[in-house]
Amino acid sequence: MQVAIDGPAGSGKSSVCKIVAEKYSLTYIDTGAMYRSIAWLSVHFGEDNLAAKAENTEFILEDNGRKISIKYNGKIYDLTKEIRTPEISSKVAFVAADSDIRKILVKKQQFYAEGSDVIMEGRDITTVVLPNADIKIFLTASPEERAKRRFKEWEGIDKASEYTKVLEEIKKRDEMDMTRKESPLLQSEDAVLLDTTGLSLEQVADKIGEMIISYKHNH
Ligand code: CDP
Repeated sequence: MQVAIDGPAGSGKSSVCKIVAEKYSLTYIDTGAMYRSIAWLSVHFGEDNLAAKAENTEFILEDNGRKISIKYNGKIYDLTKEIRTPEISSKVAFVAADSDIRKILVKKQQFYAEGSDVIMEGRDITTVVLPNADIKIFLTASPEERAKRRFKEWEGIDKASEYTKVLEEIKKRDEMDMTRKESPLLQSEDAVLLDTTGLSLEQVADKIGEMIISYKHNH
C-alpha cells in the first residue's frame, strides 16, 4: 500500500508520518531529507555539478525516518542533525528548483517505493512521484500555526530563533515551493485536504489511520 502526503513547511508531515508508519507497519520515506542532503553536499563539496553529485549519492534511510545518512565518494555521513539547520533550510529551495536534481531524486524515491508498503511525504509526492498512490493527502495548517510548531522544534535542538524570523522563513519557502516552475507544491484534485490547524499530532494521525483502515476494508 502506498500513502502519499504533500504539504507546506511545518504542516506536521514528518511527525505524523512517523506515528502512522509505526502503527500501520509502513516504511516512512522523508523526501525533504533527501533534498536537504543535497543542499548539505553543495555546502560541503561545492555547488558545481550538483546533479552528478546527487546521482552518485546513496541514501541510507534508517529507523523509520529518525536517521538519515548518505554514502558519497565511498564515505558515509550521518546527516540526521546537520540537515536541520537554518542554513540548510535556506539553501534547500534552490536545490529543489533544479529540474535535473529533481529527476534524479524522484527516480530514487520511486525505486524505494516499488513493491513496498510506504508512507512518503514531500511536495510532489501526490502529483509526480506516486500519482497512483492508494491514499493521497494534502496536509496543511495556517502559516502562524506552522511557524509556532517549527519554532518549538528549533528550540528543542538548541537552534532558538525569533518567532517572526521563523514565520518569515516559512512564508518565503512556501512562496518558492508554490511558484517554482518544476513540480510546484499544489493540491492535486484527487488528494484529500487535511487542515491540521488546532489539531494534535495524534488527532491527525488518527484521521490518516481511519483512511488506511477504510482503504484496507475496501480492498
Ligand atoms: O520539513 P520541512 O517542511 O521544513 O521541509 P522538508 O520536507 O524537509 O523539505 C525541505 C524542502 O525541500 C522544501 O521546502 C522543498 O523546497 C523541498 N522539497 C521538494 O521540493 N520536494 C519534495 N518532495 C520534498 C521537499
